[in-house]
Amino acid sequence: TPRTLIAGNWKMNGLSAALEEARAVAAALDSQPVAARVAIFPPATLLHRLADAVEGSSVLVGGQDCHANANGAHTGDIAAEMIADAGGTLVICGHSERRTDHGETSEQVARKAQAAIAAGLEPIICVGESLSQRQAGEAVAFVLGQVRESLPAGLKGQAFNVAYEPLWAIGTGHVASVEDIIEMHGAIRAELVALFGEQGGATPILYGGSVKPDNAGEILAAPEVGGALVGGASLKAKDFLAIVAAA
Ligand code: 13P
Repeated sequence: TPRTLIAGNWKMNGLSAALEEARAVAAALDSQPVAARVAIFPPATLLHRLADAVEGSSVLVGGQDCHANANGAHTGDIAAEMIADAGGTLVICGHSERRTDHGETSEQVARKAQAAIAAGLEPIICVGESLSQRQAGEAVAFVLGQVRESLPAGLKGQAFNVAYEPLWAIGTGHVASVEDIIEMHGAIRAELVALFGEQGGATPILYGGSVKPDNAGEILAAPEVGGALVGGASLKAKDFLAIVAAA
């Protein structure tokens, strides 16, 4: 089984001073290596500097989004190859905030993930239902539909991850129950096996949504949870390292 991935999504947070938090994470992992893979996803403005700041450590760096095209007239967008060139090795595709704020569809997310893989990046492809969908009993069916539509067809052997992030758990402090996480991750696993066979059985499925130092251990120990996608609690090295230690 792949190593647990603890991914810190800084979202639209972090000025130059935040590089100190990344340096602190790198220094801590240098002095006390951990079993998990640890990655930080800073805003694009810090990507290159953060990659330089943690160079030589075990900390991985990634982008929060990439464009589906390799280059061209797309003002404000970032190509996957640019993320790689800046020192990134991973990229988040289809985060719910991209889907909500920028109207990204699952079909676009699949093309972004395809572009990421073409540039040698490892995508983390995000899915998750809204509160009203969960209350209507549609959560599993909706998320499996997103999985089918957001993953590029024809993946074979390339590394990628899926992240389940229920929208109602993001930034709210309302973490999903372990029972709900187990049910959804089990359903996603079955879908991945149906889609990708043996590789689908090994694809890491991360959970995201109000992961904190005090709930990380229980979540990460649940069946089919291959890591965590952490927002707010990834901004301070101390909190993030406590989650890493729980892996
Ligand atoms: P929070 O950990 O702040 O709830 O954010 C989760 C998330 O969206 C990570 O991508």
